[in-house]
Order: sequence, then structure tokens, then C-alpha cells
Amino acid sequence: MRNKTCVAIDGPAGAGKSTVAKLVARQLGLLYIDTGAMYRAVTLKALREGLDLTDHEQLTALARRTKIELVPGAKQLVLLDGEDVTEEIRSPEVSRHVSLVAKVPGVRAILVEQQRRMASETGVVMDGRDIGTVVLPQADIKIFLTASAEERANRRAKELANKGYTIDIAKLIKEIEERDYIDSHREVSPLVAAADATIIDSSNLSIDEVVEEIVKLIGNP
Ligand code: CDP
Repeated sequence: MRNKTCVAIDGPAGAGKSTVAKLVARQLGLLYIDTGAMYRAVTLKALREGLDLTDHEQLTALARRTKIELVPGAKQLVLLDGEDVTEEIRSPEVSRHVSLVAKVPGVRAILVEQQRRMASETGVVMDGRDIGTVVLPQADIKIFLTASAEERANRRAKELANKGYTIDIAKLIKEIEERDYIDSHREVSPLVAAADATIIDSSNLSIDEVVEEIVKLIGNP
């Protein structure tokens, strides 16, 4: 029988969701789906086309005519209309604007439908902001992964430095806090822990410790 276990991991920027989600998926033979990458891909296209990011109609139309593919593999690839944008969607420029695009109800409706379709075919570990609350409320296990803003900014700074970006840590903390604020206060699908989610604060935990805790919970939901 195919493993149809469905794991939802939500939480704020830099809590370690994607690293942990990938490892849990690999360990359990599930498909990893990075929903943030989908919002980032739409944002990249909107920036390239010079759209007004407060124009909800234009952004919704753009999402409708955009094809996003997540290609599984040792390094998951993100294709935007067939072009590999895996690296480009992680740029600080996209990070600074993505929450404006993600708060548009029409954009969310289009991407959520695609996410549900992907999860209907196989067992998944899906990470994002609204997976346990909106996208997959029937998930077998829901995790809300968080950490202090300083710790999250430090992790993100290391990640960006490894990619050759110059980091101003005070500015990064401010940007992460701004993004969390928009994500938590938007009208549609705000970032919030589902009532039945297990909350894990990863500030003082290693990646392996978080993975182990989640795998244990899946064994004993
Ligand atoms: O990796 P990081 O935590 O920085 O963010 P991400 O998971 O790549 O998501 C980028 C942004 O997309 C978030 O700040 C949200 O604004 C939006 N997002 C969302 O609204 N809903 C999701 N399910 C996933 C991401």
C-alpha cells in the first residue's frame, strides 16, 4: 500500500520548516511540498513584469496564467513557466515583497487549489503558513514550528551569507518581523497555529532533534 500520511508544518520565516520538512519527508518516503516556493515564484514573476503589488486583480490574473512546477529530487527544483528559478526565488528582493503577494485572496485561492491537488495524489510533508488550518485541515499530524526572532534572523543570515549576500543583521530582523506581521494579520489564512497542532520551539533544538520529535509524533499521533 502507498504511504498516504499527510504532515503539515507551519510557522514563521526562518523557523527551519523547509530543512526539517525535507528530512522528515526523506525519512518517511513522503513527497516534500514547499508552498512558500510557489508564492515566491509568483512574486518573482510580478517583480519581473513590474506589476503594482497592491493591485489584487492584476496579481490574481498573473497567478492564473503562471505554471509552477516543483520537481522532486536530491535538490528540489522550482520551475516558473518551465524556467529553473530555484535560486532566484530566495533572493532578498523576493523575500521583501512576497508577503504582499501572498495576502491577495485570489492568488491564494489559485495556489491552494494546486497544493490540494498535489496532496491528493500521494503522502506529503507540506510546509507553509496555512497548511494545517486551510490547505490540509485533515492532515494526520500538524506541527507549528517557531523560534525567537533573533534566532530566526541569525539562521537566515547564515543561509544568505553562504550564498554570497552581504547581510545587515539588524535590517534582516526588521524585515523578518515585518513579514511575520503581514503574514499574521492578513484577512485570508493568517499565520496561526491550528488548534490541534503540536507547537515546537526550535530556538534551542538542533535540526536533528526537531526531526526526531516530529517522526516520533507521526509514530504516535
Ligand atoms: O522560507 P521562509 O520561511 O522565509 O518563507 P517561505 O516559506 O518561503 O514563504 C515565503 C512567504 O510566502 C511567507 O512569508 C508568506 O508570506 C507566504 N506563504 C504563505 O502565505 N502561505 C504559505 N502556505 C506559504 C508561504
